[in-house]
Amino acid sequence: MKILVTGGCGYIGSHTCVELLNNNYEVVVLDNLSNSNISVLDKIKKITGKSVKFYEGNMIDTDLLDKVFTENKIDAVIDFAAYKAVGESVEKPIEYYKNNVSTILELILAMKRHNVKKIVFSSSATVYGTPDEVPIKEDAKTGGTTNPYGTSKLFVEKILKDLYKSDNEWDIAILRYFNPIGAHESGLIGESPNGVPANLMPYVAKVAKGEFEFLRVFGNDYETNDGTGVRDYIHVVDLANGHIKALEKLTKEEKGLYIYNLGTGTGYSVLDIVKAFEKANNIKVPYKIMPRRAGDIAACYSDPTKAKEELGFVATKTLEDMCRDAWNFEKNN
Ligand code: NAD
Ligand code: UD1
Repeated sequence: MKILVTGGCGYIGSHTCVELLNNNYEVVVLDNLSNSNISVLDKIKKITGKSVKFYEGNMIDTDLLDKVFTENKIDAVIDFAAYKAVGESVEKPIEYYKNNVSTILELILAMKRHNVKKIVFSSSATVYGTPDEVPIKEDAKTGGTTNPYGTSKLFVEKILKDLYKSDNEWDIAILRYFNPIGAHESGLIGESPNGVPANLMPYVAKVAKGEFEFLRVFGNDYETNDGTGVRDYIHVVDLANGHIKALEKLTKEEKGLYIYNLGTGTGYSVLDIVKAFEKANNIKVPYKIMPRRAGDIAACYSDPTKAKEELGFVATKTLEDMCRDAWNFEKNN
């Protein structure tokens, strides 16, 4: 099968390309390199011994989309192409809505023109807003997003639901990721955010490397075990494999619109992460307790049962694996 991976040079996309190639899929990547580097393609080849076919360009470009679908007999699309920085989305809402919503409309129209009707979409646990209870199941209420990034994911989910309602020949998987961290065990590909990282694990790794003096722990007065925020961290390679399971569902079973949480189901606190990172890598991560970060919630973790029962997806990597691989990548890069 031939899969078009949009945003395939990015963090999650590159790891998914590796798992697709390892599972004998053929891979075509479309990426405008707005948040990634073309050197990732060589690294994918180094890891797998196989190449992907690459098109550089913006997913909003209809001529380019037609070219990709004409030159390749695509069976399904995995759509990662989007902007993802929550803080930046508050400052640049229109750019975020354009890149995260308008582009996928063009992608879907191109898929319609070329009669490709299978798509896996990268959504986020952010669509649950502040959850009424944890662990979060897929049928929990969505909405109440507090930033344009989160709202863009909510909009696209709605668009995909309306699309399926209009034509149930479509086959759609919406995957709601919890907190992907870690890197490929080779240390060749991983997450390298521009500037000061907003997310916890890349910041922890940079403190360990000495680029920052200490980690700012945002609040220790939440109603959690140790007072710090609790999240469902999932190894990016497990997450990538979740996409293979979703593709199998779309190809083997009856057509439908399916929504799955991709997480481990276990919540870890900020201090759990600090301790696990120190232990796994035998390195100190100094930290200071700071005030809460605006918009944060106390605890967010998944109920992963539906993905287990319907996809056979279970995350297998441990927190130690996540910390070791994140550090291995940071040291190499
Ligand atoms: P990333 O920024 O590393 O990768 C996104 C890739 O898409 C980049 O290579 C970028 O150059 C490309 N891209 C962006 N806009 C494009 C466009 N218009 N045309 C072509 N290419 C474009 O991000 P990621 O962490 O790999 O995230 C992938 C997807 O998963 C995104 O949709 C993101 O919103 C979603 N997601 C990520 C997380 C996370 O924590 N990383 C959590 C939940 C959901
Ligand atoms: C963030 C995004 C969310 C996205 C998710 C996965 C926000 C508000 N939300 O979620 O939309 O889906 O990433 O990419 O950004 N922390 C510190 N110090 C730091 C950084 C983080 O203490 O320097 C704490 C946070 O307060 C939180 C936990 O670590 O309790 C995780 O934070 P982060 O990695 O930013 O992820 P989320 O906030 O869960």
